[in-house]
Amino acid sequence: MKVDVLLGLQWGDEGKGKVVDVLTPSYDVVTRFQGGPNAGHTLEFNGEKYVLRSIPSGIFQGDKINVIGNGVVLDPALFKAEAESLAASGHDIVSRLYISKKAHLILPTHRLLDAAYEAAKGDSKVGTTGKGIGPTYTDKISRNGVRVGDILDNFEAKYKAAIARHEQILKSLNFQYDLKSMEKDWFEGIEYLKKFKFVDSEHFVNNELKAGKSILAEGAQGTMLDIDFGSYPFVTSSNTICAGACTGLGIAPNKIGDVYGIFKAYCTRVGGGPFPTELFDETGEKICKIGHEFGAVTGRKRRCGWIDLVALKYAIMINGVTKLIMMKSDVLDDFETIKACVAYKMDGEQIDYFPFDITKEVEPVYVEMPGWKTTMTNVKSEKDFPKAFEDYIAFLEKELEVPIKIVSVGPDRNQTIVR
Ligand code: GDP
Ligand code: IMO
Ligand code: MG
Repeated sequence: MKVDVLLGLQWGDEGKGKVVDVLTPSYDVVTRFQGGPNAGHTLEFNGEKYVLRSIPSGIFQGDKINVIGNGVVLDPALFKAEAESLAASGHDIVSRLYISKKAHLILPTHRLLDAAYEAAKGDSKVGTTGKGIGPTYTDKISRNGVRVGDILDNFEAKYKAAIARHEQILKSLNFQYDLKSMEKDWFEGIEYLKKFKFVDSEHFVNNELKAGKSILAEGAQGTMLDIDFGSYPFVTSSNTICAGACTGLGIAPNKIGDVYGIFKAYCTRVGGGPFPTELFDETGEKICKIGHEFGAVTGRKRRCGWIDLVALKYAIMINGVTKLIMMKSDVLDDFETIKACVAYKMDGEQIDYFPFDITKEVEPVYVEMPGWKTTMTNVKSEKDFPKAFEDYIAFLEKELEVPIKIVSVGPDRNQTIVR
């Protein structure tokens, strides 16, 4: 068997959580492979709404095993709050969630460092989620990290050594903080974590594959936030792309099966950084309002714009996408015209590929299509698609050269059309 990967093709918040939940019945195991509580994955079903941050979105469907892979960074305090809130609503996940011993821990000082580095950047700050993601991955790469498996062996000494190093940096940055108040929750989180099964997730995942089990790997963030291929430096600190599933779970590239690439029928971005198709007019406001484009965790307003096919083609190439999933098409139900960016004008030249630096002046070149002006939220089958909507899908499939296999017309699990 192979691992299918589902990942975001834009700047995150494409609707990954919803679709992982929808697809979970077809899989035996669901895993996260990168990112951490910077993610906010929203699921809606039976009139309930959940936002998951570190726990995979396969946790609500039957008794499927969910795994937090080695590529994830985990904040014990936030994890405890997340798991306890699920338990309070009747979802006891302790026996169904395994955690990789090789996943790195987000220490309280990583969060402080995140804030300190952002403050030091001033106007050019990234606009991070403030969850300590960058500093935790920095420690991992510079071989200074503390891992989940370390909890079981001489933990205090490892923790103290890391904290001492971080405090030196915080002092050098003149950053004021109160570590003690953060440590209480954090250590309660460490105790809570011990309830869960710690695994060598690379062995677990490969053994499951050998035993004929199917696995779905759930990406966090999106391709345009990837540390290597995103709009650097306005990116997150992990590989959000398909290759990240190999390093973040311990699977070989030839074990990857389908790659589901998920995108919104338009585009959003939260935080700083370039966004060529961003709209600053009433059309952008309309998309934001109808799409409820506010961060699932931070509540920050998401910047909105038209779909960017230059960036999408790039993301499809980097990830080897085999199936596309289009989300939130219902948000465009009431637009006279829909626009799609097919090229960029830069330095007086028109280009149709994603360039090295999009922080420069980029003018999008649009094609315009008539909107479908039909409420799609109750549509159950593609035979009920209005003609203009069919045309929009056909146009995207021709441009992107990958079939759109799922169309989402609302936040609920049931508002999903498989083609
Ligand atoms: P994720 O981070 O990729 O899982 O996405 P988020 O949960 O951060 O953001 C997606 C938002 O859109 C959530 O509020 C979802 O409930 C909502 N959503 C998902 N699919 C649809 C859809 O097809 N239509 C509408 N209107 N909302 C959707
Ligand atoms: P999901 O999984 C949207 C953005 C932040 C910031 C940049 C770096 O819900 O799609 P970080 O805290 O990771 O160092 O922030 O990345 N960002 C996201 N934007 N969705 C996310 O996750 C994001 N996770 C991080 O806003 O611009
Ligand atoms: Mg999100």
